[in-house]
Amino acid sequence: MYQALACVTDNKKIAENIHLIEFEAPSIANVIAPGQFLNLRVNDNLFPLLRRPFSICDVNNDRISVMFNVMGEGTKILSQKKLNDYVDILGPLGNGFNLTFNEKKTVIISGGLGAAPFPYLTKELLNRDKEIITIVGGRSSQDIIKHGLTNLFITTEDGSEGLKGNVIDCLKDINNLLFETQYRVFTCGPNGMIKAIKKYFADNKIVVEASVESAMACGFGICQGCPIEHVQSEDTYKLICKDGPVFNLNDIII
Ligand SMILES: Cc1cc2nc3c(=O)[nH]c(=O)nc-3n(C[C@H](O)[C@H](O)[C@H](O)COP(=O)(O)OP(=O)(O)OC[C@H]3O[C@@H](n4cnc5c(N)ncnc54)[C@H](O)[C@@H]3O)c2cc1C
Ligand code: FES
Repeated sequence: MYQALACVTDNKKIAENIHLIEFEAPSIANVIAPGQFLNLRVNDNLFPLLRRPFSICDVNNDRISVMFNVMGEGTKILSQKKLNDYVDILGPLGNGFNLTFNEKKTVIISGGLGAAPFPYLTKELLNRDKEIITIVGGRSSQDIIKHGLTNLFITTEDGSEGLKGNVIDCLKDINNLLFETQYRVFTCGPNGMIKAIKKYFADNKIVVEASVESAMACGFGICQGCPIEHVQSEDTYKLICKDGPVFNLNDIII
């Protein structure tokens, strides 16, 4: 884990309320893996006091980007950062997606801003010659984030883009593309979606890795503020920041 004062090299709005900010941070960019996250201090003064966690969206040489939704004061301040401003970054934090597996086919399932960690994962999977199907779901076309993703199947609850329904309907719809092959699934999005995915894959041997969120303070295992119930662990709880945020979906109770 490194702490760096990182220079902002780009900050743009890519959709309604969604920003993509890029930092120059060689010490972190050179060791980071898809699914890991950064904890950002968004201001020099004491407000907001706590750092804010964000998934690594992409890495290009010495530069790291983060995709974020403007939710409250922290993300509002981040959205106003200008070129050559500096942001205090802690990272890489947590455990990312497992990239060592035999299956040739992969399915990425993203709900809303759950798309954030997938551009970098997509790049790394393609580097390993994996085939990717990406299912992107949202309430309406405004929630559909395609940035950095490939081979898209879109689904919206109101039918304003792609298949009318949710990501489970989409999975059923494209089952013929996956039928009788072993594939691996990566997902990130709202808890309700992740629960439904867990149920859908409960009876087969497909490995599903999910990136999950919770409120966080320290981001590296000190404050004990981010527990998740874990079926394989002796003490039954793991910390999302230190043991996750990526877990085998079979191992967690969500
Ligand atoms: C491991 C991890 C990775 C994350 N990656 C990303 C990412 O790539 N992009 C991104 O936009 N966000 C991501 N988040 C969520 C992000 O950290 C919060 O949106 C951010 O901290 C909000 O800060 P704020 O000061 O703007 O809002 P606050 O003022 O702290 O909160 C504003 C409102 O947002 C709600 N809120 C805060 N955090 C969350 C959350 N995690 N989920 C749902 N609602 C929340 C609060 O309850 C409140 O209603 C991630 C969180 C974790 C734990
Ligand atoms: S955020 Fe402090 S232990 Fe996880």
